[in-house]
Amino acid sequence: AYNYMFEKPLPIPAIAQPSFETRVNGRTIQYFESTIEPLTLQIYPDLGPAHLVGYNGTVPGPTYVIKRGTETVIRYLNNGNVSSAVHLHGSYTHAVWDGWADDDLKVGEYKDYYYPNSESARPMWYHDHAEGHTASDAYYGQAGVYIIYDPAEDALGLPKGKYDVPLALTDKVYQANGDLKAPQGINNFFGDVIQVNEQPWPYLAVEPRKYRLRFFDMSLSRPFSLYFADPTGSKIDFEVIASDSGLFGGPVKTNDITIAMGERYEVVIDFARFADKNITLGNDFNLPQQIQEFNNTDKVMRFVVGNSVSDNSNNGDVPTTLNSNIQWPPKRTTVDHRFNFQLGGESTWTINGVDFNDVNNRVLARPPQGTVELWELHHSGGPAVHPVHVHLVNLQIVSRKGGSRGVLPYEAAGLKDVVLLEPGETVQVLAYYGPWNGVYMFHCHNLVHEDNTMMVAFNVTALSA
Ligand code: C2O
Ligand code: CU
Repeated sequence: AYNYMFEKPLPIPAIAQPSFETRVNGRTIQYFESTIEPLTLQIYPDLGPAHLVGYNGTVPGPTYVIKRGTETVIRYLNNGNVSSAVHLHGSYTHAVWDGWADDDLKVGEYKDYYYPNSESARPMWYHDHAEGHTASDAYYGQAGVYIIYDPAEDALGLPKGKYDVPLALTDKVYQANGDLKAPQGINNFFGDVIQVNEQPWPYLAVEPRKYRLRFFDMSLSRPFSLYFADPTGSKIDFEVIASDSGLFGGPVKTNDITIAMGERYEVVIDFARFADKNITLGNDFNLPQQIQEFNNTDKVMRFVVGNSVSDNSNNGDVPTTLNSNIQWPPKRTTVDHRFNFQLGGESTWTINGVDFNDVNNRVLARPPQGTVELWELHHSGGPAVHPVHVHLVNLQIVSRKGGSRGVLPYEAAGLKDVVLLEPGETVQVLAYYGPWNGVYMFHCHNLVHEDNTMMVAFNVTALSA
């Protein structure tokens, strides 16, 4: 067991620095270099190190913080052990740089990925997407945070700088020698060790004021229902301000938030009432019944609140209007496609019975560029949940039926790119298919399912001239 619960500080990944920058016709382009390479991390203080493969020697990889509209080119050099395909999750990348699973970068090769970064400010993340081994590559460290910020949002006075903290959630299993145990199985992979920014159960020293916390679920199979508990165990209210595709119209108050694999949520929490106290971030997500849960997965990390505030700026009330610019797609009631997320026999997962290896049949939708489609996604059973991720687009979650819950207030408050399907649920999602044409993936973001072929494609077809 890991015996250092809340004793080690939360690591904060370094900010990626461009190697150079150019201006072309009034556009700014920043160039970065990122090497996929092995590294070791001392997770258990008295055992051997964990062997990982990350970006530029850290796990999570460096955090990109990019001003909206500044274009980036990232040269990924694969010095790892296996092929890779890098995907920037949440970005409207052109298809050629989107990390298509079998467009892989062999060991020793590099590729320059270009990102326009012109979408609204949002918390994105990048991770490996190579065919058949995405789960183990992400698990061993190929994942990181990529934030687009918009100076126009500064006027909102949200907490920033050291009061704006990325929290990447994962779960792992370790061997007796302190090294990681490889993920196995085709249904799920659950770890007994909960990590934030790769540190098991860390603590973060905070000041008694407001913080903006950006949550990323980077685990393979584990959704979390996160809550902040005060020393008496009571849940504390907080405000959810943003999700996958950026700021909400206005904040949503809650005391518990479910985040599934691939999803992002940003919250503002006020520690002002808790000077000199400890606030524990807990997890009360109930896994489907058949799944065995571990002992300490109900705890995530701790906030150790101090008693003085060093900087009181950007510490006011969250504005009631955060974003009046959300590009909601026009309403549509005709269902364009129905997709069943289902078991495909003994050893595969499929979408409408199709799997990613079925190269002649795996394109399941052909929305003409610039059109809006309504898709209905259904979980038809099996011992797992399916967070469905559609590349390129922003989804409006229209309805959820067939289970015990509807669309949650914070799912409805903004556009998303992942939506969680629990057993029996049917969810309708509306999206504008653009801005580019091309063939893109959509899949289950339980990465174990994705590797076991629960992935297909759609083709945004070009308008003829
Ligand atoms: Cu986060 Cu297709 O991936
Ligand atoms: Cu799934």
